[in-house]
Amino acid sequence: MTSANAWAESKEIQTIDQRISLKLTETEKIEFLSEMRQMLASIQGIISGIGENNPEKIIKSARYSGNRMARATPESVKSKIPKTFQEIGGPTHMMFEELVIRAETDDMETLTLFTGEIMQQCLACHEMFKVD
Ligand code: HEC
Repeated sequence: MTSANAWAESKEIQTIDQRISLKLTETEKIEFLSEMRQMLASIQGIISGIGENNPEKIIKSARYSGNRMARATPESVKSKIPKTFQEIGGPTHMMFEELVIRAETDDMETLTLFTGEIMQQCLACHEMFKVD
């Protein structure tokens, strides 16, 4: 897990792109980025759900980016992505599944904290990789 200062650190503007390329094909890239936008939509739904004190909405939004999405990754992509990428990506989907379970019982403050932890995964991976 990255430090709690990730937000402040990420404000630094970089002029050299040192991220590792995943070297996806055009089709793989389209599908990959579409999944990414769905993850952003999940986060949006989770945060709204927390604000509305609506566990059902949180569960529905989180489930979208859980195991379902992990399983949907095409074999062609799985076979070429680096191990480090998988080590961040796999647990991220598991954390969404964990949120699905936690939303049944945890209070909204705890869920907010956990959502913040999930988003550290987004930051960690985005810092390291690019699609092309
Ligand atoms: C295991 C790695 C990984 C994780 C985890 C990850 N992403 Fe990404 N995401 C990427 C990569 C790589 C790109 C492409 C960046 C580039 O090429 O500039 C990307 C791009 C995106 C984009 C841009 C989509 C587009 O259409 O251009 C969004 C939005 C996004 N991610 C949201 C998220 C959110 C929200 C999370 C966390 C819930 C997340 N991502 C977690 C790797 C990851």
